[in-house]
Amino acid sequence: MKKLLFISLIFLLVACGGNTPDAQLDVSEISLPDTYDEARAQAAYKKSCAACHGGNLQGGGAYPYPITGISKEEMYVAIMEGVGLMPARLVTGEEAENLAVWIAAQ
Ligand code: HEC
Repeated sequence: MKKLLFISLIFLLVACGGNTPDAQLDVSEISLPDTYDEARAQAAYKKSCAACHGGNLQGGGAYPYPITGISKEEMYVAIMEGVGLMPARLVTGEEAENLAVWIAAQ
């Protein structure tokens, strides 16, 4: 009986764990700055995105279409959640915010 109680407790703790990494981001609740650090964004793009999206954001081997033309919030969600076969979180945190704002401004 004690064992069952223990297992139930663990289950409760896991179930109430709160924000899972898979929680869907809501575009309307994201607030990003208007300015960006261009050199940092370009470095992050080159390192984490250019292989699939090309050196100039206009398309590459894995996705031969431009990734410009969407809002910075949508760009941030794409980076954090991934898109189709594109992996999520190739860039995270402030670096991801800066990158999203820069790409959307191109
Ligand atoms: C491993 C290859 C790969 C890498 C690295 C990658 N992507 Fe992608 N990305 C894709 C593919 C493939 C798609 C299309 C997915 C689909 O539609 O199923 C895509 C789609 C997108 C889209 C959606 C475009 C649209 O018009 O719907 C955005 C935005 C995007 N990527 C941004 C980025 C950014 C920013 C980075 C760097 C942090 C990045 N991607 C890194 C492969 C990649």
